[in-house]
Amino acid sequence: MGQTVLLTGGAGYIGSHTFVALRAAGHDAVVLDNFSNARADVPDRLEVITGAPVRVYRGDVRDGALLARIFAENAIGAVIHFAALKAAGESVEKPLDYMDVNLGGLTALLKAMREAGCFRLVFSSSATVYGTPEVLPVPETAPRGYANPYGFTKLACEQILEQVGASDPRWAIATLRYFNPVGAHSSALIGEDPQDFPNNLVPFVAEVALGKRAALNVFGDDWATRDGTGVRDYIHVEDLARGHVMSLGHLVETGQSHTVNLGTGRGYSVLEMLAAYGRAVGRDLPHVIAPRRPGDVAEVVADPSKAAALLGFRAERGVDEMCASSWAFVSRRRNG
Ligand code: NAD
Ligand code: UD1
Repeated sequence: MGQTVLLTGGAGYIGSHTFVALRAAGHDAVVLDNFSNARADVPDRLEVITGAPVRVYRGDVRDGALLARIFAENAIGAVIHFAALKAAGESVEKPLDYMDVNLGGLTALLKAMREAGCFRLVFSSSATVYGTPEVLPVPETAPRGYANPYGFTKLACEQILEQVGASDPRWAIATLRYFNPVGAHSSALIGEDPQDFPNNLVPFVAEVALGKRAALNVFGDDWATRDGTGVRDYIHVEDLARGHVMSLGHLVETGQSHTVNLGTGRGYSVLEMLAAYGRAVGRDLPHVIAPRRPGDVAEVVADPSKAAALLGFRAERGVDEMCASSWAFVSRRRNG
């Protein structure tokens, strides 16, 4: 049966794609976002894609009074909690901001949910909780750690959820560990749209393709990988969004909490991704070899088998589709 789902951070990159996937699956969704990292026109674009009005509450997820109003005004059956600060490098400079928004946001939300009698939650975690993985591909049972305050907040949120879940059997909590989400919606109307410096690989490569930056700085070519550059498990954001719908379905059907990796199980190097983006654009994109980035690791690839067995989730789209959809989005955005 269709649920009304509250999406905190629903105007952001992953939240907006999940909004579309939920509607396509027969659910409805309400967005809470403070637009600190989202464009003001995302709700209009979601209306165009889904063909129905979008209900948006503009405000902070730490605002308990606002959360109470949202639960009072809507029959919310579940929450997907995307709202967070997510730049690992920035978190080293501003750890308190990350603790305030990421930990304070989660606890405010959990309190409001309990008050409202809503106990189904899907949480955005990250492969960052694996730190430097010892076993590849990484299973969910791998030891957890963190390398920066952002990673600390994701690990702490997981632990908060474990303790809250254990305190009351009514809670049904999904912890989804995303690997590297990239790409954009097939409409080219929504996608990843960094409000400031593009820290992650694909947004930076997109700016090289647009001519906004001269060349990609490849952070090290002396890693112990097949071509010496870092290897990651890139997952198309539309596949990732579908994973949320399947996880929600599992929560509703079984009431069972679960923690799963959302990745493809295949790794691509920086140079392989650059080549894939070049194929999407139709020309080779320039790069220079730069020093390693502090805190980086050689290789992170998901073991996706638990998500397949438990949820029936398998990523379907490959790197060419990821890069082509990113390019379609950023080139359309450049042209207004
Ligand atoms: P995003 O920044 O595009 O989306 C987050 C949204 O939350 C934004 O729209 C922002 O305006 C909103 N927001 C931030 N602080 C808020 C607050 N205090 N109150 C209300 N809204 C607030 O990021 P994303 O890539 O869509 O990430 C979503 C979630 O997934 C985050 O929790 C992030 O940590 C996690 N995650 C992302 C990645 C990734 O590579 N994108 C990887 C792993 C995990
Ligand atoms: C980053 C975050 C991590 C977060 C993850 C998913 C850091 C240190 N880590 O990790 O916390 O969970 O994104 O959002 O920011 N690269 C370049 N040049 C660039 C940018 C990246 O060579 O300009 C390389 C990196 O060294 C890495 C790969 O590209 O090998 C992917 O980098 P990135 O997109 O930043 O993702 P992660 O390193 O996985």
